[in-house]
Amino acid sequence: MSINIVKTTPFSDQKPGTSGLRKAVTAFEQPHYLENFVQSVFDTLNGYQGQTIVLGGDGRYYNRTAINTILKMASANGVGKVMVGCNGILSTPATSCVIRENGAFGGFILSASHNPGGPKGDFGIKYNIGNGGPAPEKVTEAIYTRSKEIQEYKILEAADLNIDTLGVFKLGTMEVEVIDSVASYLKLMENLFDFELIRNLITSGSFRLCIDSMHAVTGPYAKTIFETRLGAPAGTVIGGIPLEDFGGGHPDPNLVYAHDLVEILFGENAPDFGAASDGDGDRNMILGRHFFVTPSDSIAVLTANAHLVPGYQAGLTGVARSMPTSMALDRVAERLKFPCYETPTGWKFFGNLLDANKATLCGEESFGTGSNHIREKDGLWAVLFWLNILAVRKESVEQIVQQHWSEYGRNYYSRHDYEGVNSARANELVTALRSQLSTMPGKQYAGYQVDYADDFSYTDPVDHSVTTNQGIRIGFTDGSRIVFRLSGTGTQGATLRLYVESYEADSSKQNIETQKALQPLIDLAQEIAKIRHYTERETPTVIT
Ligand code: G1P
Ligand code: ZN
Repeated sequence: MSINIVKTTPFSDQKPGTSGLRKAVTAFEQPHYLENFVQSVFDTLNGYQGQTIVLGGDGRYYNRTAINTILKMASANGVGKVMVGCNGILSTPATSCVIRENGAFGGFILSASHNPGGPKGDFGIKYNIGNGGPAPEKVTEAIYTRSKEIQEYKILEAADLNIDTLGVFKLGTMEVEVIDSVASYLKLMENLFDFELIRNLITSGSFRLCIDSMHAVTGPYAKTIFETRLGAPAGTVIGGIPLEDFGGGHPDPNLVYAHDLVEILFGENAPDFGAASDGDGDRNMILGRHFFVTPSDSIAVLTANAHLVPGYQAGLTGVARSMPTSMALDRVAERLKFPCYETPTGWKFFGNLLDANKATLCGEESFGTGSNHIREKDGLWAVLFWLNILAVRKESVEQIVQQHWSEYGRNYYSRHDYEGVNSARANELVTALRSQLSTMPGKQYAGYQVDYADDFSYTDPVDHSVTTNQGIRIGFTDGSRIVFRLSGTGTQGATLRLYVESYEADSSKQNIETQKALQPLIDLAQEIAKIRHYTERETPTVIT
């Protein structure tokens, strides 16, 4: 087996976004495209030679091809050992778990998360560092810089390896261990949650649940955990077989794309609890019978009830949420007297807070929830956390959330996405907004007075790095807020996200339909940002 040094020329578009490099599969299929990026990662890292790297993906189209390429490149670049998920399957949280458990140098996760898969869909690759979390911005920037100058890459000339059988193999001088995709992750979950109590609830006969894996990576995890380990009946997990095109679906756990589950939970004779996961298993949607829990409420409820869960009984040091996530969490943190950090969008910003033990639980409005158990958000972890709370409190999901609102007040919250809009026009919208910011404070709009208006900037309290231009926030004196930002994960045109939030302390006014409750603020956002004018869209593509 010999090492080939292949001449190449740089691509100009290998800049990692909010969560790794995401492109259409056809982009990755260009000769040298994946290789250039992977070599740029190796060229940027120091000291990986002889070390262990973890490798896996969400099972989407191109996963296997990419795994074989990366294995051969890792060998040629002097990596000591690669631990690869059986069948190429490793969820994002499981990868983080395996990196940490084995003290690995880092890992590659092959996924474009919720973006559709298949030959015409998207593919993605992200690099995680030794703490198990996404590479910080200074690393991804260095990778991008390298990708613009790369001249050659190294790859072993060898046959493809069989990654469908557990065991230890040799590839050149490198060792490859094909590992069980679920085992480490299951062990970690068993350490955090009261599995016996949850099992009693699930097998009691008076509690039913339905878990939708949306034909993506969590199928094998959910079947093992809920059906085998926790005793739920076969068929509890739907969409449980990972497919290369996710069965033609869009593995995004929200009310629009997880419609199969929504129909079940909002239908007749609905189960007590439902949950869905996204493509790579890091996100979740939680439903009760005829009841939707917003992700912003979910992290607030988990925080308020963390003392009921074995892994968190010792107390929380603090919590963190991304800037556009509702401020429901802040109210819990204030009451329980620990800090609540507000970070830019993207899980990587939680890494330092978790490493420094400043935050224990974190959440994003985009259906991402997690804790210091790993360094990624974790969909099934959130599901188990909810089940543990339900098993202790013996109340319904709806009762628990209603009771939470009556205690802390309700933050009405919604996100409106305008997908695939013209990039230049979307940027104009943001520029026009920015130019108004300095004159806004104090201004009165249809009953709302502007308290502050800024472009969010974040100084990391641990390494003091500064991240600017993270979204435009307009806060009003009554505690309501509108936020505008452009997505960093889309692959076509631009996606404008509008986040709208209002606060209601009076429990007699906490059961208004969300869009109705927020209508005055939605209208105001139109007026201030001229969304229809710039996006040339009458209505949002997705409302969550
Ligand atoms: C979106 C979400 C963000 C999440 C990211 C990766 O990013 O909004 O919270 O961390 O996907 O899953 P965006 O497209 O908004 O940049
Ligand atoms: Zn994801």
